[in-house]
Amino acid sequence: MNVYSWQEAPSDAQFAVIGDPIDHSLSPQMHNAAFAALNLPYRYVAIQVPTGEVKAALSKLAESNYRGVNVTVPHKEEAIGWCMHVDGFVQEVRSVNTIDLRRHSGINTDADGFLESLIGRVGADSRSALMIGAGGSARALARALVRDGWELRIQNRTPEKAAELASAVGAKAVTEVDPTGADLIVNTTSAWLQGDSLAVPWEKAKPGALAYDLAYGAEPTPFLKEAAAHNLSTIDGLPMLIEQGALALEWWLGVSAPRDAMRAAIDGR
Ligand code: ATR
Repeated sequence: MNVYSWQEAPSDAQFAVIGDPIDHSLSPQMHNAAFAALNLPYRYVAIQVPTGEVKAALSKLAESNYRGVNVTVPHKEEAIGWCMHVDGFVQEVRSVNTIDLRRHSGINTDADGFLESLIGRVGADSRSALMIGAGGSARALARALVRDGWELRIQNRTPEKAAELASAVGAKAVTEVDPTGADLIVNTTSAWLQGDSLAVPWEKAKPGALAYDLAYGAEPTPFLKEAAAHNLSTIDGLPMLIEQGALALEWWLGVSAPRDAMRAAIDGR
């Protein structure tokens, strides 16, 4: 895939994802398929932006008549500084992932995309969740889960960060990864990306619980492989990626997003 520097953003595109690194992003494929399905003459590109240059990059894209930008790791907090309008949720979780450049306005569709991806995958009476990790992604998802009525336990390699996040969102910090009683076990860590594995005592998990890994790849992640071997249901980060993208597109354009086309474009990635 073509990746552009922000100084050389192509003038025939209107939408972009910014991040660092950005070369593995599936967003261009997904959004370009959506525009094609909607018969819209737009182009979506991937733009590499180093930390510290996010404001300059967003201003340049706005001047170049770009309409919308998705923001990914590690810029979701830095990008808030460019926005003139963000909602309370963005302020609370210090994370923006979708910007309307013409309105200087930003929202976070990760959290709703995540909650949406749970529908039909957890039972209506499921209310107990265990989250592993307390980084940027965890912050938005923990807030969303608690707001949605879940009783949440948070475990993190650095226990102080779990305690801080738990107290900010109204969850309980725990020191052990213990899935006992949880209907949902979410891995928000980047352990796998770093070649590490998480030691989860899956034999303690509730039958029928859902193991959720925010990561995704061509193969199931080790976290999901182990969960499946213990007969748990599993979901990786792709449904959430599709849903956060669909919600972003709907916010930019005010039309219903063609989710099937978006999914098809990144299937078998
Ligand atoms: P993101 O924005 O994607 O959530 P992040 O803010 O860097 O990324 O957070 C990464 C999370 O993965 C943190 O919870 C981190 O734990 P620490 O707070 O202890 O750093 C967790 N993490 C990263 N590598 C890990 C590993 N090898 N084992 C366990 N947890 C790990």
